[in-house]
Amino acid sequence: MHNLGDRVKVTNNHKMKAFSGEPNIFTPTRPEESQAELKVENLTLKFGGITALNKIDLSAHNGELISIIGPNGAGKTTLLNCIAGHDTAREARISFNGKDITHLSTHHLAKIGIGRTYQNIELFQSMTVLSNMMLARHAHYKYNVGQASLFLKNVRNEEVRHREVLEELIDFLEIESIRKEIVGSLPYGMRKRVELGCALALQPKLLMLDEPFAGITLEEKEDMVRFLVELNEAWNQTIILVEHNLSMVMSISKRVAVLDFGVKIAEGSPDFVQNHPQVIKAYLGDVS
Ligand SMILES: Nc1ncnc2c1ncn2[C@@H]1O[C@H](COP(=O)(O)OP(=O)(O)O)[C@@H](O)[C@H]1O
Ligand SMILES: [Mg+2]
Repeated sequence: MHNLGDRVKVTNNHKMKAFSGEPNIFTPTRPEESQAELKVENLTLKFGGITALNKIDLSAHNGELISIIGPNGAGKTTLLNCIAGHDTAREARISFNGKDITHLSTHHLAKIGIGRTYQNIELFQSMTVLSNMMLARHAHYKYNVGQASLFLKNVRNEEVRHREVLEELIDFLEIESIRKEIVGSLPYGMRKRVELGCALALQPKLLMLDEPFAGITLEEKEDMVRFLVELNEAWNQTIILVEHNLSMVMSISKRVAVLDFGVKIAEGSPDFVQNHPQVIKAYLGDVS
């Protein structure tokens, strides 16, 4: 039917994968450590005369992979920016695990467990894969100088823990062979995977991904799907996935919200939304 793009197969072998060594970063010691319940109410954002988002209500439940789709310019990136605290001129009420987070800074939001990737990759291109991931993690898990000089043992333990987390992630994302490569020299699809690694380095409770499949090969898409499905199904990672095409999310999301011109025009199962007249109209009118 209308502009639904490539179909990507989802294999079941993700359920077979297991990590060697302990501790496992995807298994929190207490369930509440990974708890993620997001509620966005009545979100409106205007850019001059353009209403980029119009009275959006959206929720993401703990352990869910919810997809947000819509044609170019629908407001998907703006919605992620609003949740992540970038577009602060918005009107809204946003809560996370029952706490009002509407006015928290991006830094604070990252600290309480809201992580994301960007539509146009934001990595340090002249640094290695490992350095990018270390920087991503250290940006939010810094010990202060006083601690560093007074409690060297604690700091060392913390360093060991950081290393363990990064090594597990490198193992999980199958990027062992490129860990020392300069990011700018990698194929685009690999850079997307490294960006996912940087977002995961923070061990976010809620992971928001802005078009992780855009511009990558079919094989890379299948790998990306496999990682996301495993993160969600095997490790209970809560994910908001922004994607242009409905077909990409059909097999991996149980719930899909559709934006068009800043309005949420439909929400429900993939089958429900793909047969929704307004959704069909929005996509038929999309020439991209
Ligand atoms: N910083 C900005 N200033 C002005 N207009 C913007 C800005 N960011 C986005 N927009 C506009 O908001 C609308 C939604 O954009 P965006 O969220 O990027 O859409 P999507 O991610 O769904 O393609 C578009 O009309 C876009 O031109
Ligand atoms: Mg976008």
